[in-house]
Amino acid sequence: MAAVLKMEEFNLLDDSECEARIASAKRILGERLCILGHHYQRDEVFRHADFSGDSLKLSQMAATTDAEYIVFCGVHFMAEVADIVTHGKRQVILPDLAAGCSMADMANLVKVRKCWSELAEVLDPDQSVTPVTYINSAADLKGFCGSHGGIVCTSSNARAVLEWSFARREKVLFFPDQHLGRNTAYAMGVGLDEMVVWDFTKPLGGLTPEQIRGARMILWKGFCSVHQMFQPAHIDHFRGRVPQGKVISHPENAFEVCQKSDFVGSTEYILRTVRASQPGDHWLVGTELNLVNRLADEMKARDVTVEFMSPTVCMCSTMFRTDPQHLAWVLDNAVAGRTVNRIQVPEEVAEPARAALDLMLEVVD
Ligand code: 13P
Ligand code: SF4
Repeated sequence: MAAVLKMEEFNLLDDSECEARIASAKRILGERLCILGHHYQRDEVFRHADFSGDSLKLSQMAATTDAEYIVFCGVHFMAEVADIVTHGKRQVILPDLAAGCSMADMANLVKVRKCWSELAEVLDPDQSVTPVTYINSAADLKGFCGSHGGIVCTSSNARAVLEWSFARREKVLFFPDQHLGRNTAYAMGVGLDEMVVWDFTKPLGGLTPEQIRGARMILWKGFCSVHQMFQPAHIDHFRGRVPQGKVISHPENAFEVCQKSDFVGSTEYILRTVRASQPGDHWLVGTELNLVNRLADEMKARDVTVEFMSPTVCMCSTMFRTDPQHLAWVLDNAVAGRTVNRIQVPEEVAEPARAALDLMLEVVD
């Protein structure tokens, strides 16, 4: 078998050389290869994706492809999901192993187990609390949900998942993103006074037993460092400048930002909604910069204006880690018969995680 090609050598290549190598590897591997690209990927990578989508669509794509190699241009938890839903039968590759998600890292199994056992001092969580993890989480947290009557959600199906959860148990423990949990539950009619924030750095989440007993939503104190850059004042300023304009935001944004927005939804929803615009429409979009820049370019031709919500440049730095150099490196190795950066979830973790993911896919079907 050929020797592994070294990443250091690819770091010396310029983008155009990488482009040529990627195109050539795609031709050679043909249907043995499926490149999935999340909407937050930079243009130089995104253009090579066979399929693009939000987290839900990409996990469905991963589950249905027959390709031998799934190269996931996204972040670590997405590649883990692809390995889980394909039962480890595909070689799932993450071009840069450092492409994680800082929000996903805000919850871990030790902290969630501690939370569960502390909740058990106040109530019987296995009877009265459904654990719901956002797909932006490590596989073992999905496994935790699968083992405790819980489920996974994405930003495009969180409402259906919460409806399912409340139909079974009176409370939901939602992690790691407090904002997606709060925004979704509020839109369903759960009052802010029925939600508490679990501060995982404090005993009993910094709450009293009464607060826990009185809550319907227990929100983990996690957030997305990209979406926290968007502020209600940005929307006020836009509305003052463009009174006829429309505002659309991702549900990882803060409550006040979502409340001031005309539309709230996943990356796929944002693209679909803005693409359905009429000429002359003007949008302010509260989500990651690469998606917004691409959408703005696309819509310009149709006389639709798309603006980024924040005055400062904020990208998802971990999504940005996947560059043409890493993509060319993993593909050239695949052509040489070597798999580098394979993501494999051990079956004892994958099995309960798969149960929680399968349940999600059933609930949204
Ligand atoms: P989507 O599910 O909307 O693609 O969102 C994923 C994500 O990480 C947003 O920050
Ligand atoms: Fe994670 Fe936020 Fe990046 Fe999405 S945008 S991958 S939630 S850090």
